[in-house]
Amino acid sequence: MSEAARSPALETRGLCKSFGALQVANSIDFRLERGARHALIGPNGAGKTSFVNLVTGALAPSAGQVLIDGTEVTDLPQSERVKRGLARTFQVTALFRRLTALENVTLGIAEREGVADDLFWPSGRHKRVIEEAYAVLESLDLADDALRPVNMLAYGRQRLVEIAVSLALAPKVLLLDGGGGAVGRERHDHRGDRAAAAGDRTADHRARYGSGISRGAADHRHGAGRRAGRR
Ligand SMILES: Nc1ncnc2c1ncn2[C@@H]1O[C@H](COP(=O)(O)OP(=O)(O)O)[C@@H](O)[C@H]1O
Ligand SMILES: [Mg+2]
Repeated sequence: MSEAARSPALETRGLCKSFGALQVANSIDFRLERGARHALIGPNGAGKTSFVNLVTGALAPSAGQVLIDGTEVTDLPQSERVKRGLARTFQVTALFRRLTALENVTLGIAEREGVADDLFWPSGRHKRVIEEAYAVLESLDLADDALRPVNMLAYGRQRLVEIAVSLALAPKVLLLDGGGGAVGRERHDHRGDRAAAAGDRTADHRARYGSGISRGAADHRHGAGRRAGRR
């Protein structure tokens, strides 16, 4: 078995972060195994978002290491970590609001495949990419909204489109940070499950690479945490 196959999808070792006198991360040792789901729960201000930012590289730690698939990435920029399979939900503001949900997800897949800047795609690729994008939307119960511009959707639906775009990147690790309150209770209760189901579908695509998708969710709502934390 290769080193990468034995390593957790995501790991932190002795991760520390202080903002002046305020210590938001105190030597965090964390392991996220392949295919596992974890929920990080705590009151507002507990440091959940800070932890996500340390993992993605939006924040530099005061001490400690971050490893993706057993490889240290502590000094790598966010974009390099995304290339190594670490994704977080896109902010609603990062969606193309006048484009449809389907177009947004299609662009996510084009980005993943490195063809987003190409004006002309080989024939056949469009169909395959659009079908995959539609399947991701369907798995999040967004099929009815596929052809609607994002700015016409309710906020909670927009949040689900964010998750769809993130899943379109076929990440190894997907981090969902808060914002669940806006998705609506029924949707919220199932959000982790939906992301998981959609992730499992994407994982099927990736089975030949021998990697599953792992998910971490940070949410201050304990109910959501329990759901999302279920394996
Ligand atoms: N860039 C920053 N500079 C100074 N303090 C910050 C910064 N980011 C977060 N904090 C503080 O760190 C603490 C943890 O915040 P955060 O990680 O956002 O918590 P949570 O996501 O659990 O609500 C809070 O007290 C917050 O005010
Ligand atoms: Mg937060």
